[in-house]
This record gives sequence, structure tokens and C-alpha cells, in this order.
Amino acid sequence: RTIYVLNGPNLNLLGRRQPEIYGYRTLKDAEALCRGVLPEGHDLRFLQSNWEGQIIDWIHEARESAAGIVINPGALTHTSIAILDALNAFEGPVIEVHLSNIHKRESFRHTSYVSLRADGVIAGLGLEGYVAAVQGIVTLGRTES
Ligand code: DQA
Repeated sequence: RTIYVLNGPNLNLLGRRQPEIYGYRTLKDAEALCRGVLPEGHDLRFLQSNWEGQIIDWIHEARESAAGIVINPGALTHTSIAILDALNAFEGPVIEVHLSNIHKRESFRHTSYVSLRADGVIAGLGLEGYVAAVQGIVTLGRTES
């Protein structure tokens, strides 16, 4: 089954964007790490968009058959009720990931709409957070069925 890994605005610049916060590794590196831990019988749809509506469309697409959703919504985390609503219409496991520890940063990053839906939240582990989240989807999928 397919695990969706969705990335929001500005994450296409990962590796070049504020490396003192987000590090020098890229989203391609994150994808490779995730593929490395993927168990037999699972595949990944690893996606990024700077457009809120595109992310919502992908969440709708995931409703069809996805094993779960890993999502780093970028700054949309702190603003998007529409992404929360889309995730609420998805029935499988959802894990929210942030490269940085949003709770250690500016107060406007302390609130996450997505956390109202997420089954798990990982923040501050950099790219390793994606790996843990993918493994988490597999584990949650097993305990559910
Ligand atoms: C982020 C944290 C957000 O506050 C920020 O807007 C991002 C990245 C993270 O991965 O740490 O774009 O989601």
C-alpha cells in the first residue's frame, strides 16, 4: 500500500534554505532515507508543493487507498484550517513532521492546526523525523488491522 509523504511551501529549497535551521540535506535525501526503510508491500508517494490547494488535492487522492499520510505542511501548519479539514476527511493514520522543533522557535509557530488531527507529531529531528514517521505509519497500520 502507498504511504503519502506530503511537503508544503518552501520545502523544495531544503538544503539551501536557512541551513542553520533546516540543515544542508535536501528533500531528495529525505525521500531516499524513507525509501530505505520501506517494508515489503509498501510504496511511497513523496511530494512537495508550494500551493495549499495542491496539497489538499493530494490528501483527497490519498482517501482512495493510502496506508497513511506523513505531512510537513511548512508554514501552512500554523494557518491552514483547509488542510486540517482535508485530513479530517482521511481515515488512515496521519503523522505530522517538522524538521525544526517548532516549540523552540517564534510563538507563531507554536500552534498547529494539523496537530488537531495527527496521530503522531515529530519535531526537531531533521530528516530522521521523516524516517520515524514512515515507520510510524507502518506500525499504526499494523495495530489498526
Ligand atoms: C517547518 C516549520 C514551519 O514553522 C516552517 O514554516 C517551515 C518548516 C519545519 O519543518 O520545521 O516551513 O514545518
